[in-house]
Amino acid sequence: MATILEGVSRTFAEYLLLPRLTRKDQRPEQVDLSTPLSAVEPNQLPRFKINTPVVSAAMQSVSGSKLAISLARQGGLGFIYCSQEIETQAEMVHQVKAHKAGFVSSDTNTTANKTLHDVIELMRQTGHSTVPVTDDGSGHGKLIGLITDQDFWVHEDDLDNPVSRHMTPISDVIYGEEGLTLREANRLLHKHKKKCLPILNGEGHLTSLVFKKDYEDHMRHPLELLDESKRLCVGAAINTHDYKTRAPVLIEAGADALCFDSSDGFTEFQKEGIDWLRKEFGNGVVIGGGNVVSAEGFDYLVEEGGVDFIKVGMGGGSICITREQKGIGRGQASALLDVVQRRDSYFEETGRYIPICSDGGLANDTQIVVALAMGADFVMMGRYFAMTEESPTPKTSINGQMYKPYWGEGTRRAQNWQRYAEDMSTREMVFEEGVDAYVPLVGSLADVLGTTLYKLRSTMVNIGSDSLSEFRDQATLTLVSEQSVVEAGTSTVFQFTTNRDFEETSWGDKG
Ligand code: IMP
Repeated sequence: MATILEGVSRTFAEYLLLPRLTRKDQRPEQVDLSTPLSAVEPNQLPRFKINTPVVSAAMQSVSGSKLAISLARQGGLGFIYCSQEIETQAEMVHQVKAHKAGFVSSDTNTTANKTLHDVIELMRQTGHSTVPVTDDGSGHGKLIGLITDQDFWVHEDDLDNPVSRHMTPISDVIYGEEGLTLREANRLLHKHKKKCLPILNGEGHLTSLVFKKDYEDHMRHPLELLDESKRLCVGAAINTHDYKTRAPVLIEAGADALCFDSSDGFTEFQKEGIDWLRKEFGNGVVIGGGNVVSAEGFDYLVEEGGVDFIKVGMGGGSICITREQKGIGRGQASALLDVVQRRDSYFEETGRYIPICSDGGLANDTQIVVALAMGADFVMMGRYFAMTEESPTPKTSINGQMYKPYWGEGTRRAQNWQRYAEDMSTREMVFEEGVDAYVPLVGSLADVLGTTLYKLRSTMVNIGSDSLSEFRDQATLTLVSEQSVVEAGTSTVFQFTTNRDFEETSWGDKG
């Protein structure tokens, strides 16, 4: 006979935190939100930590390089999706790593004989207002001069004029020599009251640019997640089909953490994948596994030194219809509590600490707080980031409101990329596990996440916690009602119906 668990499958909306003693010296800004993303061996420090406990879902409509850059600047980690060709995924990883705070490669360049028309069009395309003029028009050509939007008047100057007539010639350009430090470059910018400093090698070729705005930006982002070479950190998803070719390319491109992207990670395929990666790369790679929803799943993936972190969740995602389609999954709170309890007993037994990621189904800021209080070390979110300016999808105006498309990885739309894959794996999709929807545009990632993290910090102060580990230990939660909130639905997104109308449903809490 099947085993029937006691109790019901519960979700975050059913829980509330009780306040505990707040000390007089506590301030929300001083709360430490850093958290491990790699397994912590007995008496050792984690190999990889993030500065804020949020990561973005490995989804086409969420985690492109722009979002990953923005999230890393806030101290979190973006997981670039693997439902694409290996080369394009590696290129996205590379773009995040190349976005080195400080020295940036120049991607908007021209030649002296181009016209002002050409430069204006270039500025419009890239959004940049400082354009190096090089002998071959490339970002590494010999620098001839600099032209900015301050060097001409669109309605006064003849826009057929050549760039050479308006640019600052190299003889008057303040530049730095290759090899100088970022601090020295910023000093030059300060001293000469410049916005941009080109860096040249011994032959006068452009190697990079340093911007004043980047310095200011950096000062505004003290939690920026940087690697040892001061490059932004980024994660990348892998799958159980092609990890042997995909993972090495992603590691080579600079990925700081890999994570299996699967709705069900309690499989021999995933275990084999983890073993293979460990054998090939040892502890040099951070590997996430999952998803699991039970202590049994945790044990299976952690056994014999396997994964670094475990993702928990099945069927709770806002675009997810796995529970409806397959009758499988678990309320996110019950799943998390079960796995956390096992993680803690495993820690007692072995001294090894395995970080846990609560993945999907977080419908509002309160639920993020509850997930972390229940023992998650960090959370993974899709919808939350899909709603920001930085998600990779285009803004769409519907009835005067701005929306962004958001679709599940288990939809035909997401899976279509495989049709064009070289191996022609034209696996027909018999049914979908996700929906194709719209979410409202809510603003920039920095603004939205800033508010969320401030709320989290203030709740932690209410509990008397200075760090996330204290928060987990000190939190006391209570069930708020008997009513179970239906987590399997898709009620927090707007979905196309067949007559192409929009079905508008409740926003805040799901259900
Ligand atoms: P959200 O934050 O509630 O939008 O959930 C995001 C999570 O949903 C992802 O991190 C995945 O675990 C999961 N997910 C992504 N695509 C699908 C899908 O098509 N079906 C089911 N779950 C999905």
